[in-house]
Amino acid sequence: MLRTRPESPVVAPSVLAADFADLAADCQNALDAGGKLLHLDVMDGHFVPNLSFGPGLIEKLRLALPDVCFDVHLMISDPASYIEPFAKAGADHISFHCEVLDVDEAKRLADRVRDLGCTAGIAINPETAFEKVEPLLGSFEMLLVMSVHPGFGGQSFIAEVLKKTARGRDEGPEGLILEMDGGVSPDTAKRCRDAGCDLLVAGSALFGKPKGERSDVVRSMIG
Ligand code: DX5
Ligand code: ZN
Repeated sequence: MLRTRPESPVVAPSVLAADFADLAADCQNALDAGGKLLHLDVMDGHFVPNLSFGPGLIEKLRLALPDVCFDVHLMISDPASYIEPFAKAGADHISFHCEVLDVDEAKRLADRVRDLGCTAGIAINPETAFEKVEPLLGSFEMLLVMSVHPGFGGQSFIAEVLKKTARGRDEGPEGLILEMDGGVSPDTAKRCRDAGCDLLVAGSALFGKPKGERSDVVRSMIG
């Protein structure tokens, strides 16, 4: 289980881009190719203009993949109402967005996430200033920097957000896990690693390749 910073950056396959009709097998293939945890994007059609899946799917995937670390990214307007069902469904990490809560609410929710046995991540959109998460970094195990506008896979990497990752590494606590999410590929991964990223989320860059080519993608992303 990945509850602390990995020794070197790892790839987190993003389930959103997997074959939903053959989900467990496709995820297993991405893990066999070198992915170290699964990134699971939950969308509510409100915080983002798309819908994905909820705790029911995660619960079934947990039965199929009992030992894999599940990194659940809640792109939803009301995370407080859904932390518990996602923890019960089998989440290990739960991240929610700084844009939907004030500082005190976010800190309280992080404590609830930990009370439920998970680690807590705070996520920040590309257009949100770093100052919004700065007062929260000591209260979370992870900072998730969005490098695309959340809601859809397959978008282009927004390089400006690398500055936020670098600030998270410089100004956050020593053990803070840094995750980059969106448009991360063999072309953009090195810049993320150089900025201090630990977890490289890969959706289309990985699942968009034939199964036999995915280990090359992972290798080229971790350098
Ligand atoms: C975007 C999601 C991402 C997405 C990344 O809203 O948060 O996790 O799956 O997909 P790619 O890697 O295709 O940009
Ligand atoms: Zn995500």
